[in-house]
Amino acid sequence: MITTDNNANRQPDAFAELEQGVHAALETYSNVHRGSGHNSIVSTNLYEQARDIVLEYLGLPGNRYVVIFCSPRRAAALGALLGPGKYQVVSSSDIGLPLGIRALAVKKRALPRGIPFQTGGGTTRIIAPDWAIWANAPDRFEAGTPAIINVIAFARALSLTRQHGKDIFKGPQTGKLSATDILYRDDMEKYTGQELLDALRQTLIGRSMKVPTTEGLKPYINFDNSASTPTFTPVWDAVRRTWRQSPQVQQEIIREVRPLVAGFLGAPLASYDVIYTSNTTEAINLAAENLSREDDKETETVLLTTILEHSSNDLPWRTATRYPLIRLSIDNEGFIDLNQMETLLRDYNQEYRYGKKRIRLMAVCGASNVLGVFNNLEEISRIVHKYGAQLLVDAAQMVAHRKINIEECGIDYLAFSAHKIYAPFGCGVLVARKGLLSFSPEEMELIRTSGEENTGGIAALGKAIVLLQRIGMDLIRKEEQALTGRILRGMAQVEGITVYGIRDPDSPTFARKGGVIVFAMKGLMSDSLARKLALEGGIGVRYGCHCAHILIKHLVGVSPSLEKFQRLMATLIPAIKFPGLARVSLGIGNSE
Ligand SMILES: Cc1ncc(COP(=O)(O)O)c(C=O)c1O
Repeated sequence: MITTDNNANRQPDAFAELEQGVHAALETYSNVHRGSGHNSIVSTNLYEQARDIVLEYLGLPGNRYVVIFCSPRRAAALGALLGPGKYQVVSSSDIGLPLGIRALAVKKRALPRGIPFQTGGGTTRIIAPDWAIWANAPDRFEAGTPAIINVIAFARALSLTRQHGKDIFKGPQTGKLSATDILYRDDMEKYTGQELLDALRQTLIGRSMKVPTTEGLKPYINFDNSASTPTFTPVWDAVRRTWRQSPQVQQEIIREVRPLVAGFLGAPLASYDVIYTSNTTEAINLAAENLSREDDKETETVLLTTILEHSSNDLPWRTATRYPLIRLSIDNEGFIDLNQMETLLRDYNQEYRYGKKRIRLMAVCGASNVLGVFNNLEEISRIVHKYGAQLLVDAAQMVAHRKINIEECGIDYLAFSAHKIYAPFGCGVLVARKGLLSFSPEEMELIRTSGEENTGGIAALGKAIVLLQRIGMDLIRKEEQALTGRILRGMAQVEGITVYGIRDPDSPTFARKGGVIVFAMKGLMSDSLARKLALEGGIGVRYGCHCAHILIKHLVGVSPSLEKFQRLMATLIPAIKFPGLARVSLGIGNSE
């Protein structure tokens, strides 16, 4: 009998299979390793399984090799440190996918010791103002939030290529679209403002997921948006459509998103460079590397920062520049003292009280990931520039929540991550005033191509910005403030809860508070509290030190002698946990 089945020899739609797997991962998406909720546990498992899939793909044994996921530029840096023969690498570009992922399978014995080549969140176990205990591999070499979904997508794609052939993602694809179609066209076009926000919430991926609790399955309540945000169908559509496009259309997307970012942040491209990275941490490491090269023989550089900072805006300044850091303290609500800041700048840069020492740069967060306070960037910028210093803003916790205008504010550098603005596909951004970056043309090319290889992530970032702009940042601010006020009022009724920072929704400073609330419960360690919320309520929060050890120790009152003891304990008992706080953090996916 002659078969007429036209499908008999047809290639499976590899992209459809890949998308199905990634969509499933997005339904339970959360940050890895540190969240308490069900989704964080699932995402962590998937992310860690990706390492096994890479080892299997390369035919390497897990007892002798460790897999490190990184951006192309980090892979080049780590590869140079390791030298030939010490590792094998497999790239998303090898299999025709624009994910910007390199998986390095490194011989455990060959792993470099000492300070990692890039530092920030996740690279340490414990941090004090003048020392750090570094994490083990692979975390030590994966600074900042990894490109979790891209890594999962990559691992899934590797498995698919093993089943169906290595070229299944290569060659012309069906469904050619333009950058405009991908970035601007969607089912939500007819809506703006509140209507759009309401419609978009219906498309939150994972919205209808239920999670196991001690009382059976319950809807998942995501109160861990500061760690990473889930995504919405239009953003995911932009990603999967981008994966299928030709290199020409991908270039169009890269070109189109740059002015979108610039417009959203008020950083005209005539005056600012917009550089794609893999996360905020990589962006700040770049800025720190850049500063370390501008050696001025006449002066000695000192850097100014605050105790509020996430370790991604603290460690790179210590490790990449090695310049001394002065950290401004905070008041009970979490605000730095601008008079103290001005006095320091005047003493160093105008009255030369410290000889050749000059404050070259102030590195400060736009908003704290622990206390949720928004810094007064206009005023900080005015003072910093009055004394001839530069300003870097770590805007990781700001961009999704408040309007920013880089040019009006006079910001010199700004860094943020797309995974905190509903686009969790491994893209970060460094905005730098033109003329400040002094990398060689070859280095600049590596920096550029490293970020631009993740076209899917760039498309997601662009699409998320389009949607946020259509909703309006003022509306987002109002919604988040209303919810924050409601939660704070509710918490005030619960006996035994201590909220840190601004806790009164009627106080004049409440306008400067975002949807981030840290708290402790009498008699419970933060990890037990977080576990209880997950197990009994299906609620995902973050616990511990939030990659802001210096601040958490300040808040919970760890004295210098106790800190020394902690160091000893951390060395003796690697798995030991230290006092921390639980954190609720909101995003536009949360509503009344
Ligand atoms: C204030 C702040 N800065 C920097 C970072 C680092 O961002 P990423 O992990 O995306 O590099 C975070 C992440 O939690 C943050 O909250």
